[in-house]
Amino acid sequence: MWVFHQLNPLKDHINRKRAEGHTIGFVPTMGALHEGHVSLVRQSNAGHSISICSIFVNPTQFNETSDLQKYPRTEAQDVYLLEREKCKLVFLPSVEEVYPHGRNAGPDFQFGMLDRTMEGEFRPGHFKGVAQVVHRFLQMIEPDAIYMGQKDFQQVAIVRDMIRQANLPVSLVMCPTVREDSGLAMSSRNVRLSEDQRSRAALIYQLLQDVKNRASGADLQKLGQEAFQRLASEPGFRPEYVRICEGRSLAELSSMDESDFVVICAACWVGDVRLIDNLILKAPV
Ligand code: PAJ
Repeated sequence: MWVFHQLNPLKDHINRKRAEGHTIGFVPTMGALHEGHVSLVRQSNAGHSISICSIFVNPTQFNETSDLQKYPRTEAQDVYLLEREKCKLVFLPSVEEVYPHGRNAGPDFQFGMLDRTMEGEFRPGHFKGVAQVVHRFLQMIEPDAIYMGQKDFQQVAIVRDMIRQANLPVSLVMCPTVREDSGLAMSSRNVRLSEDQRSRAALIYQLLQDVKNRASGADLQKLGQEAFQRLASEPGFRPEYVRICEGRSLAELSSMDESDFVVICAACWVGDVRLIDNLILKAPV
């Protein structure tokens, strides 16, 4: 596996490979890799002769410096995992390499509702940082496709809209959420949970499934509120939102009949770890 820290040699390498007829799948990450990330690499490998994974803890998407500082960094283990998965290339740039013109550089995308609801409401500025860094990576790598996890459903919606606004020639593939045996969505943050918190955190997924089972014909607002209350009553849990919304616009829905694409999204603190999860209640055919 090739390991690059700098853009110029990376660009030369990519240009050579392109000239040889290779296609490129790209998997952006912030490291601390787990099976969820690995599944993205596998899906990229299935569609492209070269997969490129980036590992970059992007400072512009953290609204709290303490969260940025606490973010787990496991570079050696990450490189080992990627090598094992037959990822062809890993890119580990410095902040200066990604933002040579400063951290405020890049287009000023406007996302309207997509950026105001849920994560946008509780983590102001977060998606501006995500859109900025993914746009920059797409400029640097120019892949044929980018692979992202459904685990961060709203992030996928933002990146889809950014690609549309910037008119980039790349396809976006959303890959299913990989879960622990308990049902808890895998996340780099899970290692910060105690054993007890980690097993009880599976409640989030159980409640999402419970809503899915009861959604047909129901008052969705009420179901969402009930799930929120149930999370709030669990010791050490502090839910921020449970929303049932339209899969494209993320507008809140009150009945399953209102759209062909319905998703439930939740964010909940378990101790001092913030977890998010979602479940598609109805997928467009
Ligand atoms: P990170 O949290 O490292 O996630 C990288 C990618 O892995 C994202 O597309 C995320 O949705 C996906 N992922 C995480 N957990 C997953 C799981 N359990 N199952 C499937 N996919 C999963 O998301 C980011 O980094 C950053 O915001 C980034 C897009 C890299 C921009 O900095």
